[in-house]
Amino acid sequence: MNKAMPEKMQLTSMDIAEEKRQQLKALFPEAFTGDKVDFDQLKRMLGGWVEPGKERFGLQWPGKAECIKIIQQPSIATLKPVREESVNFDETENLFIEGDNLEVLKLLQKAYFGKVKMVYIDPPYNTGNEFIYPDKFEETLDTYLAYTGQIDDEGRKFSTNTDAQGRYHSRWLNMMFPRLYLAKNLLKESGIIYISIGQDELGNLLELCNDIFGEENLVTICSRVMKTGGQKGVHFSPCVDYIIAMAKNIGELAPFREEISQNLIDKVYTKTETAGPRKGEKYRSMGLYQAMLDKRANQRFYIECPDGELVIPPGESFPGDKKDGAQVAPKDGDGVWRWTYGRFFEEKKKNNVEFIRSDKTSLVQPDGSKATWNVYYKIWLNDRMEDGQLPGNILEKFESRHSSAELKLLDIPFDFAKPSALIKFLMSVSGVKENDITLDFFAGSGSTGHAAMELAKEEGSNRPFICVQLPERTHEESEEYKGGFKTISDIAKERLRRIGTKLKEDLLEHDADSGFKVFKLDRSNFKVWEGDAEKIENLEKQLSMHVDHIGKASTSEDILYELLLKAGFPLSMQVEKRKLAGKDVFAIGDGALLICLDKEITPALIDALAETEPVQVICLDEGFKGNDQLKANAVQTFKARAQVEESAIVFRTV
Ligand SMILES: C[S@@+](CC[C@H](N)C(=O)[O-])C[C@H]1O[C@@H](n2cnc3c(N)ncnc32)[C@H](O)[C@@H]1O
Repeated sequence: MNKAMPEKMQLTSMDIAEEKRQQLKALFPEAFTGDKVDFDQLKRMLGGWVEPGKERFGLQWPGKAECIKIIQQPSIATLKPVREESVNFDETENLFIEGDNLEVLKLLQKAYFGKVKMVYIDPPYNTGNEFIYPDKFEETLDTYLAYTGQIDDEGRKFSTNTDAQGRYHSRWLNMMFPRLYLAKNLLKESGIIYISIGQDELGNLLELCNDIFGEENLVTICSRVMKTGGQKGVHFSPCVDYIIAMAKNIGELAPFREEISQNLIDKVYTKTETAGPRKGEKYRSMGLYQAMLDKRANQRFYIECPDGELVIPPGESFPGDKKDGAQVAPKDGDGVWRWTYGRFFEEKKKNNVEFIRSDKTSLVQPDGSKATWNVYYKIWLNDRMEDGQLPGNILEKFESRHSSAELKLLDIPFDFAKPSALIKFLMSVSGVKENDITLDFFAGSGSTGHAAMELAKEEGSNRPFICVQLPERTHEESEEYKGGFKTISDIAKERLRRIGTKLKEDLLEHDADSGFKVFKLDRSNFKVWEGDAEKIENLEKQLSMHVDHIGKASTSEDILYELLLKAGFPLSMQVEKRKLAGKDVFAIGDGALLICLDKEITPALIDALAETEPVQVICLDEGFKGNDQLKANAVQTFKARAQVEESAIVFRTV
């Protein structure tokens, strides 16, 4: 027992166990059913192997255990910058990444852990006709390279997900589970993920989300009207699809408010105040009595109308005194006002109460006869504008025809886009503010990038985005292919270029970010050490590879960005080239990180690097040309400098 702690505050071992259980639940919600721990699942999440036969928690399907291994398998890939396909590469914070999203999500883990405010994804709905990109455990990068024609794809089939395979749902779930799991890591505590889905996988996706995010973090399931009517289908024509919204931590997600719509203003806020301090302001009237109000003890009283008539909500009980404010406790079936008399009195003084003669009123007089007045309170448009409006979860303003129309305007052929206004709406209600990152890793034609650029322009402040899209090939007979787009990622990049230019022309007054940096998924620039090389001949090959471990075709910018990612710096960081002791050095984050890729490191360079007081320095191992003394000197120099500056310089070679 802790003697210093007052008795009331002492924690019992039960309290501590409960606290630990809740901490564990926050980290691994997928290992809990209610408050019960599934130890097998927890073991899997921590990298242990559990017999698939023993799986029993939550949603189960063949392959779930493999998925967990896939999540834990580190990526051996990198993201290579492609300046020539980018717009405003050196300044923009927007990223377009071409590649398989599983590998990309793995690569983003270090730099973007807990940094993304909103994820929107629109994955294949698994209708049986779509392409499902094949993940092969232990060779996802090879699968990707084969798919994109970068290595021999002999024997690999890239097909649609058909029922005939008998693996219809499990194949889709195997694709979604690792990606959602990795995406959750990237969300801020106050972050939210929206997932568009059709009815084929709605049920499975919801269960999967409950597994990964914890069911208490379900924000809502929106129905989005795709179209009205139609003759497709057998029993009903499907006119809606769905958006599942899950919070990373619902307790941290601020309440949502949507801007009040012009339609509501025109239809509902029809009255204008004629006198007093709010003269000229628009308002609407709401009955101070409504049948649905909960019965409260002090909310049944007489109100005196302008001509002296006393009125009260309908019911059987009446106050003894016949005067304004006289109360009676309501019995079953008695109506009450919305406010207590005190509140009514205050609001009346502020001119927030309205009396209107009415022959339709349900109010009564003290003798139970029908009243001739109704009593209303005023809701001011200006107040509502400030508070906003709680958004409803039926989304009617974002039909598919809207996306077709906007793409037509940009002369971009693509059939499966979501309206950028839908994503803009989700960003606005979710509180995506200046510099908050939005991620879409099934980017298709780039609607999320489009929405973020437009919002940034409208608000005059940046909404950085990360779009990830597979270079899925377009069919030779398709409009896309004929339009010159060989892959879907080509479509998205071109759309972003066009919308960037258009926004610049349309909204000259704001200079928000309308560029984007392109990166492509590729093999690491460093030769990968294969830890499981068992055979001697393999080992020899590996050793000789590592004498010069940088791939021949890598440029210094390729290596720079790989090092940035590995050191946990975002790809959007501005990079400054400096000359130190006659050598090129990249300075990131105002010089917090210095990267020198020179193949000849000198004592003068080491001194010059240490002089600038960096937090981290990365040099190439081969720059020391096997001179261990020079390397030891470098370590000593940085250590000594760190002591003088009372800082800790991390010096690494790669
Ligand atoms: C329904 S579309 C998204 C459309 C998008 N919301 C829009 O508005 O244009 C789904 C996209 O995900 C892409 N995709 C499928 N598997 C992927 C993967 N493993 N990595 C990256 N993108 C993938 C497909 O190529 C397809 O373009």
